[in-house]
Amino acid sequence: MANKEEKPEGKNSSWKDFIYNPRTREFLGRTASSWALIFLFYVVFYGFLAGMFSLTMWVMLQTLDDYTPRYRDRVANPGLTIRPRFLEITVNRSSPQQYSEYVQSLEDFLQEYNDTVQEQNELCHVGDYFLQNNGDEVKKVCSFKRSQLRQCSGLADTTFGYAEGQPCVLLKMNRVIGLMPRGEPYINCTAKRDTPLQMQYFPGEGQFDKMYFPYYGKKAHPNYVQPLVAVKLLLSEQDYNVALMVECKVEGSDLRNNDERDKFMGRVAFRILVTK
Ligand SMILES: *[C@@H]1O[C@H](CO)[C@@H](O)[C@H](O)[C@H]1NC(C)=O
Ligand SMILES: *[C@@H]1O[C@H](CO)[C@@H](O)[C@H](O)[C@H]1NC(C)=O
Ligand SMILES: *[C@@H]1O[C@H](CO)[C@@H](O)[C@H](O)[C@H]1NC(C)=O
Repeated sequence: MANKEEKPEGKNSSWKDFIYNPRTREFLGRTASSWALIFLFYVVFYGFLAGMFSLTMWVMLQTLDDYTPRYRDRVANPGLTIRPRFLEITVNRSSPQQYSEYVQSLEDFLQEYNDTVQEQNELCHVGDYFLQNNGDEVKKVCSFKRSQLRQCSGLADTTFGYAEGQPCVLLKMNRVIGLMPRGEPYINCTAKRDTPLQMQYFPGEGQFDKMYFPYYGKKAHPNYVQPLVAVKLLLSEQDYNVALMVECKVEGSDLRNNDERDKFMGRVAFRILVTK
């Protein structure tokens, strides 16, 4: 009540006074030093929060190991992919230009499997996992030479069978750290039609040898190469001009290949059409 009597001016002036009151030197109801204190409080407060955040983040990062992921609930099941990286492969035998894209793609992909490169890697024991001590930081790699793919290596037949109308397709499983498939994983491809299609697998039986497992991760295992299986589709004249659906699956092991939601888990389907 007493306050009201001290302000003889109208409503308008009291509002102005609220913004800046020259008598008390208050700005928005506070003096400059009061505002300065509030500002200081927030600077210190947010500075403290930022410091806390950085500290906890730093402590967390100290506990991480560059070489192995920290949380792995379970080892994932790998997907299967093909090279050339197309799910529809159309080959016109009489037009090298047309299929050169596939040949080039295979050639590029096999560069790291060059025999001269792979000779520097280990000759591992066939049929056994290649387990390595945790201590060794850079893991050794089992050699996989492209010449093992024989007729699909692109060495003797530089068109990988595309010129003769019996094209090769390479299959590989995605890298999964720590994966050790049980059993003897191999590739089985089937063409979706009434009469079976003859196919040839390389290396023999289309197996993924256990020696290429486990994979220790990008940093620990930088030169790792995945095992490959090549399948050569032995098409004949009467198979030309008909699109074929081919499905390949990883069989013979505990790796899953029939997940309803993931059609690339342990399997892959592609269409192939060869014309003359
Ligand atoms: C295949 O290529 C040849 C030569 O380029 C061409 O004459 C022919 O029409 C092509 N065939 C098909 C089915 O595209
Ligand atoms: C792979 O080998 C071929 C011949 O065998 C050679 O021309 C090519 O340069 C080699 N590539 C690498 C990356 O060593
Ligand atoms: C490949 O799969 C087909 C169809 O599922 C099956 O009939 C055939 O026995 C399999 N071959 C091998 C070697 O497992």
